[in-house]
Amino acid sequence: MAAEQRTEVLLSREEIAATVDRLAVEVSRDYTGKNPLLLGILKGSFVFMADLVRRLDFPLEIDFVRLSSYGQGTETTGNIRVVQGLRSPVRGRDVLVIEDIVDTGLTTTYFLDYLRKKKPASLRLCSLVDKPARHRVPVAIDYLGFTVPDRFLVGYGLDWDEKYRNLPDICVLVESE
Ligand code: IMP
Ligand code: MG
Repeated sequence: MAAEQRTEVLLSREEIAATVDRLAVEVSRDYTGKNPLLLGILKGSFVFMADLVRRLDFPLEIDFVRLSSYGQGTETTGNIRVVQGLRSPVRGRDVLVIEDIVDTGLTTTYFLDYLRKKKPASLRLCSLVDKPARHRVPVAIDYLGFTVPDRFLVGYGLDWDEKYRNLPDICVLVESE
């Protein structure tokens, strides 16, 4: 019989909202008056980015890039490419990368190295979720929402095979017979 999928809430919309509030305070403290460039990694970061920036009450700019790392499964291929590139100039800017989740760390490490070559004034990483048990390279997350166990998560922008991005909570995907 084909496996069925269920979702179980791991981080509720209320917990997420409180954590995004906390991250907004931290980011505001460090970036007010600097007109930073917030760079979201698509597609997963779009919900987090939208919620975070609406809590930031100072001038800033936003751009997105699209990187490919995953195929259709739940494991990174480690083979990362910039699919949709950056339009904003990075040189001399205070750049804050916005990521939904750090898993192996390969995607963010690749992208931070790519940006560093463009000589930003500063470069930091904000990730809503981190799965430290899965890191394959060291990753320094400057602003972190949640640390979670090694489970595959969906919702609040996170997908499985392009599904579930619209769930308002962050859920564990459970395969059952
Ligand atoms: P990494 O390169 O393995 O760190 O993977 C980072 C990217 O993989 C994230 O930006 C997500 O798009 C995706 N990803 C990693 N873990 C999950 C997960 O649990 N659910 C959904 N997407 C994930
Ligand atoms: Mg992503």
